[in-house]
This record gives sequence, C-alpha cells and structure tokens, in this order.
Amino acid sequence: MKFFLDTANLDEIREAASFGIADGVTTNPTLISKEGNVDFKQHIAAICEIVKGPVSAECTSEDTEGMLREGHEYSKIAPNVVIKCPLTRAGLKATRKLSDEGIRVNVTLCFSAAQAIMAAKAGASFISPFLGRLDDIGENGLLLLQDIIEVYRNYEWKTEVLAASIRHPIHVIEAARMGADIATMPFKVIDLLFNHPLTEKGQAQFLADWRKSGRK
Ligand code: G3P
Repeated sequence: MKFFLDTANLDEIREAASFGIADGVTTNPTLISKEGNVDFKQHIAAICEIVKGPVSAECTSEDTEGMLREGHEYSKIAPNVVIKCPLTRAGLKATRKLSDEGIRVNVTLCFSAAQAIMAAKAGASFISPFLGRLDDIGENGLLLLQDIIEVYRNYEWKTEVLAASIRHPIHVIEAARMGADIATMPFKVIDLLFNHPLTEKGQAQFLADWRKSGRK
C-alpha cells in the first residue's frame, strides 16, 4: 500500500519524505487555505520538488469548462501533478476529457460504491472514498472501502483505490488488510503509526542496562 500525505504543509511533507515513506501528496482547498495566502501554483510546485510521486491539485471551478481550464493549467506545473475533480456530473465530465488527454485525475468526495463505479467508468486514475467523514455521520467508512475494492476486483479498470479522510491508525491497518492501493493521511496519523509504549519502555530499559554496565 502506498502512503500519500494529506497536507499542504511543506515542513510536514519534508519530514515524511525524510523517512522515505511519502509516495505522494493529496491537497484540497481547505488544506491549501491553512497555509495562508500562498500562491497556489507555486505551492504545488514546491510540493512536487519534495515528493516525486503523484501530487493532487484540486479544481475549484464548479463547471466542466472551468475544471478543464484548471486541469490544463495545473498539469503544466510538474509532470507528477494529478488533477483532483469532485464527484459531481461536471467533475466526471472533466475527468473523462482530461483522462482521454492523458492527464491523471483523482476523483474526490466519494461516498458510495455507485459513485466509485461512475468514476472508474469516467477514466479516473484514483478514486478517493472519504472514510472519516462517513464515520462522522454514523456510517462505516471502512465498509465503503471494502465494497469499492470488491467491485473493482471484478474488472480491469485502471482506477486505483485511494483511502482518504483517514483519522487514525485503525483506518490505515484495515485499508491495508483490504488491499487498498493507497492511503492518504495527515502527518499526525503517520506519526502515530510509529508508536507503541512498549517500544519506548523497552528501548529506555535497554539503554539504561547498557549504561549501568559501565558502557557509554
Ligand atoms: O483530502 C481529502 C480528505 O482526505 C479530507 O479528509 O479529514 O478533511 O475528512 P478530512
């Protein structure tokens, strides 16, 4: 399973990249706005300098023409830019056109298996089911992920399943158990994946015993 970073923060992206585990980055308008008044295209270019894998840049137009305009513009920023389109009728029309031109599209805001099928039919390179946001309304995001993976296995669609809106390590473990192609997560979730109190306790004990025996 590939790990994408769900952030637009350059320090977090650099830190994850230093561990050698950042296979890509997903951004969205909310994440970009958290970085202040940055120039969008320059910021995406800076991310693409750090991570060589797919970097999602999201369209903010609501109509197909606007998304196509943005898609053409953003795909020139760097070869690894992926255009993010919403799972709307206009978004899927843009997805079809962009993917026919060889521009990769990540279809975002997916909340049902039916929507995931439509995205695959439109030629999406990635489909992003939002696990955490379904959990937030009392549904089970992981069940949606399971459904999509099961349906996609029946066909040879090129669309990769990108588990998104990940909130905690269980989401990551279960996504890996199901065979999701990618999990995109905030830096704090990546950081949590390293942790176990017994590792810290064990390491402290090993070093204390080492020093007690007179070694440095
Ligand atoms: O980038 C899309 C998605 O991962 C957003 O997650 O936490 O805002 O629901 P969240």
